[in-house]
Amino acid sequence: MTGGTGVLGRALVERLKERAEVRVLSRREGLPTGSVRGDLESGTGLAQALDGVDAIAHCATSADYRHPERDVAQTRRLLAERGERPLTYISIVGVDEIPFAYYRAKLNSELAIAQSGAPWTVLRATQFHDLVLRFLRPIARPPIALVPNLTVQPVDVGDVADRMADLVLGEPAGRVPDMGGPEVTALPDLMRTYLSVAGLQRRVLRMPVRLPGRTMAAFRGGAHLTPDHPDGRVTFAEYLERLRQSDGTISSAY
Ligand SMILES: NC(=O)c1ccc[n+]([C@@H]2O[C@H](COP(=O)([O-])OP(=O)(O)OC[C@H]3O[C@@H](n4cnc5c(N)ncnc54)[C@H](OP(=O)(O)O)[C@@H]3O)[C@@H](O)[C@H]2O)c1
Repeated sequence: MTGGTGVLGRALVERLKERAEVRVLSRREGLPTGSVRGDLESGTGLAQALDGVDAIAHCATSADYRHPERDVAQTRRLLAERGERPLTYISIVGVDEIPFAYYRAKLNSELAIAQSGAPWTVLRATQFHDLVLRFLRPIARPPIALVPNLTVQPVDVGDVADRMADLVLGEPAGRVPDMGGPEVTALPDLMRTYLSVAGLQRRVLRMPVRLPGRTMAAFRGGAHLTPDHPDGRVTFAEYLERLRQSDGTISSAY
């Protein structure tokens, strides 16, 4: 599995471990037994990580928004080594409609996987709660929180990991139905939820201007949403509450 130390990957490893033996490829030192130290960028450790493996979950991302094609090169490197093993990839809802460079790279990874000639599954999910929180937190620092007037459908990584685990261990299925969170909500409303759970007093204002560009227009048009698939169970409020109860770091962590 790639990306097993990331936000989604950690939740997926937990679930897969209950049902199978898991091997994580990671660049980090001090990995738990059974993991392999390696790097998708250079290809080191890849052959060792894949040796004896029946199926691959590909969750790694360099999250390099300036050079997102790095992810495509890494996906191609993995594909070149995987032989006939089925591969399950996590992508993002709307990557074929939103001209954001990182999303284009996700789409190019999807295409490389689909054209690789070996069995594959691709799941597109909406934004994770963690990402929305990371976006809202800096906006909430000043006394007035100026929030873009967009809607989102954030999903919990635990819910995505449940679905991914079934896909990784099931028959290869090609592109499967998209997965979204349980609610489509305006960002300013999610900001109010965040402020309330974090115990912060701020005025919340909708941004009075439209953010320019084709990417923002696509987001305004809802290309990143999948209202017909509100499959996630955990709401943003429940996610925040769980975070607050677990470590109390809701307003400063991440
Ligand atoms: N965040 C969202 O809202 C969202 C929504 C839908 C889909 N997704 C997709 O879900 C996936 C996981 O996202 P995430 O937020 O969980 O990611 P993340 O927390 O940023 O984790 C990134 C992972 O990629 C691994 N990685 C990065 N570069 C690597 C390299 N050169 N070689 C090997 N491993 C490498 C990291 O492992 P080490 O650091 O241990 O090497 C880490 O485990 C991504 O494909 C993302 O596009 C995200």
